[in-house]
Amino acid sequence: MRSPIRAKAWLLGLLIGLPLVATARADEEHAKLPPGPIKDRIELMEHVGDDAEAINDALKAGKPADAADPADRIAAAMPKFDALFPEGSTGEGSRAKPSIWTSRDEFDAFSTYLKKDAEAVAAAARSGGDVKTASRKMFKACKSCHQKFRQPKEGEEG
Ligand code: HEC
Repeated sequence: MRSPIRAKAWLLGLLIGLPLVATARADEEHAKLPPGPIKDRIELMEHVGDDAEAINDALKAGKPADAADPADRIAAAMPKFDALFPEGSTGEGSRAKPSIWTSRDEFDAFSTYLKKDAEAVAAAARSGGDVKTASRKMFKACKSCHQKFRQPKEGEEG
């Protein structure tokens, strides 16, 4: 007979195992891309996405101070992200719009806004400030850049 403790461990494995499988699948997709800036920046952005989720989770759990570290990582990622867009690097496997290179200043400005917004989230998290309002502003910065400079997925908006 299975002990209740083992049954619980199995259930937990199932619960936490499923998101791990989903992440592994996304990683596999990127693994298929040839080495280069497109692959590097998509991987970097996936980490930014994970950190954004961690900030959301911290707020949902009522632990806004936990948003500080992921916000630091987002702020640190953005200058690296900017450097991964050499002229014309789009095409197969990339959702980058060609307008990035005709409106480069605007693209870089969006990235700087996000860096500043992420710094503000980290500062609020460390000082007991309003992390919710700061992170709402930060998420708007993600959305603005995606709407302008990222191709929508098939059947999806922005
Ligand atoms: C300066 C513009 C800019 C900002 C700001 C930005 N992104 Fe992105 N993001 C992009 C572009 C462009 C791509 C597509 C890159 C490619 O496919 O070559 C992308 C891709 C992604 C991806 C990879 C998967 C996919 O569907 O393309 C994730 C996840 C993501 N962004 C999340 C975020 C989150 C979360 C934020 C805010 C915390 C954010 N991004 C802020 C421009 C931006």
